[in-house]
Amino acid sequence: MVTDNLDLDIDGIARDGEAAIAGARSTDALAQVETGYLGKRSALTRAHRKLGGLSPDARKEAGQRLNDVRTRLESLTEARRADRLDLSEVIPEAVRSAPARGHLHLVTQARAELEDVFVSMGFTVAEGPEAESDWYNFEALNIPPAHPARGMYDTLYLDIGEPETVLLRTHTSPVQIHLMEKAVRDRTLPIHAVMPGKCFRLDTPDARHLPVFNQIEGLVVDRDITFGDLAGTIQIFTEAYFGAGIQSRLRPAYFPFTEPSAEYEITCTLCLGEGCRTCSHTGWIELGGCGMVDPAVFAAVGIDWSEWSGFAFGFGIDRLAQMRHAIPDMRSFMENDIRFLSQF
Ligand code: DAH
Repeated sequence: MVTDNLDLDIDGIARDGEAAIAGARSTDALAQVETGYLGKRSALTRAHRKLGGLSPDARKEAGQRLNDVRTRLESLTEARRADRLDLSEVIPEAVRSAPARGHLHLVTQARAELEDVFVSMGFTVAEGPEAESDWYNFEALNIPPAHPARGMYDTLYLDIGEPETVLLRTHTSPVQIHLMEKAVRDRTLPIHAVMPGKCFRLDTPDARHLPVFNQIEGLVVDRDITFGDLAGTIQIFTEAYFGAGIQSRLRPAYFPFTEPSAEYEITCTLCLGEGCRTCSHTGWIELGGCGMVDPAVFAAVGIDWSEWSGFAFGFGIDRLAQMRHAIPDMRSFMENDIRFLSQF
């Protein structure tokens, strides 16, 4: 054969390549075989380069055969890759059947990070019950029966009336009441605490709302506390959690349990203030409320407000996590799509 003159063992190249592809035991090994048998320095490519020394007819014939071998080796490699390689020979049964290692949900991670930030600022962490009485969720917070503010806090009622009305708490503010009652009982004022936990509301899920969500409440009760302490605390918190450079603002608002009250907002991290679907085209995202503890609340728990003053805040943890990671739609948190969850 003409090709033999040039020492082109085309059949040998094909045989070796096929055997190597079939023998690759891992994706890495297959990639090495691919480079070795089809790459620039492979016998196949070298053979191609030698074709110039042949007569035109012989060159055409040998070139055709080499191309056939290349096509065949390429499709065998692809087929092996598509098989996802049978790893049974290299990976022991015990390892193959072990479940994939998971990690904490993004919102759980956010809660832990927020606790860390506040602990580093001198706050302690406390928790309260998710099922509350009307007293803790509303009345002690200066929201009497039939107060209009109850309208935005509709929830599931577990028990109505006797001996008491019990409901799924609509915010973490009732934990403030528990802490203040205990501090009065145990004579342990002042209080510097944050209180994270689940909340429940009759809300239709949308880009910024979930009917089951998480808040982190803050409460400081001490002597000579001013609105400046509140604003400074929020400023330091914003920089610690979002990094310097994120714009925040406090806007006058109304909450029955604080006076004066404010809403805490930051520039929407999705549009950087331009306006988008997530922020309803305002450029700002509300992350929670805050204010100076209302004297009526101190009266409800028996704290003398001529001696003590304080501030409080309540932030949405899901919202904070959403803004920190620029997630367009909060419903992604609840959809259990592993492609979303595994990114965080
Ligand atoms: N509890 C309020 C809510 O969920 C948020 C809030 C506002 C909490 C002002 C506070 C506060 O502690 O001072 O809508």
